[in-house]
Amino acid sequence: MASQRPRVFVTRRLPGDAVERLAAVAEVDVWPERLPPPSAELARRAADADGLLVLLTDRVDAALLDGCGHLRVVANMAVGYDNLDVGALTARGIPAGNTPGVLTESTAELTWALILAATRRVVEAERAIRRGEWVTWEPGFLLGHDLAGGTLGIVGFGKIGAAVARRARCFDLRVLAWTPRPKPVEGVEWVVLDELLARSDVVSVHCALTPTTKGLIDARALALMKPSAVLVNTARGPIVDQAALAGALRERRLFAAALDVVEREPIAPDDPLLSLDNCLVVPHIGSATVATRARMAAMAADNVLAGLRGERLPNCVNPEVYGQRPGQGRRPP
Ligand code: DGY
Repeated sequence: MASQRPRVFVTRRLPGDAVERLAAVAEVDVWPERLPPPSAELARRAADADGLLVLLTDRVDAALLDGCGHLRVVANMAVGYDNLDVGALTARGIPAGNTPGVLTESTAELTWALILAATRRVVEAERAIRRGEWVTWEPGFLLGHDLAGGTLGIVGFGKIGAAVARRARCFDLRVLAWTPRPKPVEGVEWVVLDELLARSDVVSVHCALTPTTKGLIDARALALMKPSAVLVNTARGPIVDQAALAGALRERRLFAAALDVVEREPIAPDDPLLSLDNCLVVPHIGSATVATRARMAAMAADNVLAGLRGERLPNCVNPEVYGQRPGQGRRPP
């Protein structure tokens, strides 16, 4: 007899007990590879799923959804959800979830690791040793810039931007911020983006990737920055125009950049950024701590479980889905 249990496709192995919790109520299919399922495989496995638990590497778009006749919930194991076509999900009455909050502190900490590494050339210095370049103490060897007394500019002031700003006090930095809807925050001066770029010694990007923020830090924006400034991006790669950034770094119109995210991930080994000493790139590890990744998986599972029960997702990115179609994504009476 066919199973009456719902089906869930999980696009990667997950930390913690998220899969076990799903398996207690559903038939769970877990993609076992390190690389994401190719789109045809994703479509094939999602076709009869009631729930999908996906990562930011998995594109959930209208074409995929058209092949899913039973789908009741999509949960992204990430706070960012630019890999989901939210409009297409909403149009089909499918609630989508994300994992806000849990990765705030981990990502803020990684942001500070990058700020410090880039301003003090830590990775470059370590590479220099391996090349045998530490021959003596020299007054002018590997000079970076001080943070104390300088200015940090935060582009996008959500939870992560705010957590980065809080830590700035310890480093004796003035904080400027730009966001479309500013609210008063002690110790933060709201300015327009051009002013932030021109006045900051460190510019740290924390906005979501949207059609408006794509390419926000372009050649014009980079030209406004001080030649001694550092650009850090732990948000999404396409917010920064990477070709323009490579040009600015190569010509020393910008001191350094430190990137946790790039336009196309993973970065190609021959990408021009990787040939520049003043560019530090790490592989999208903002949330990569043992505790945070387990919490993200648990939250994504909570979203799937709620969706399967017909309840409102604890963290829903398209709440407008509730109330738009009777019987879809609603708590049963
Ligand atoms: C997110 O959650 O959006 C991060 O980029 C992945 O940790």
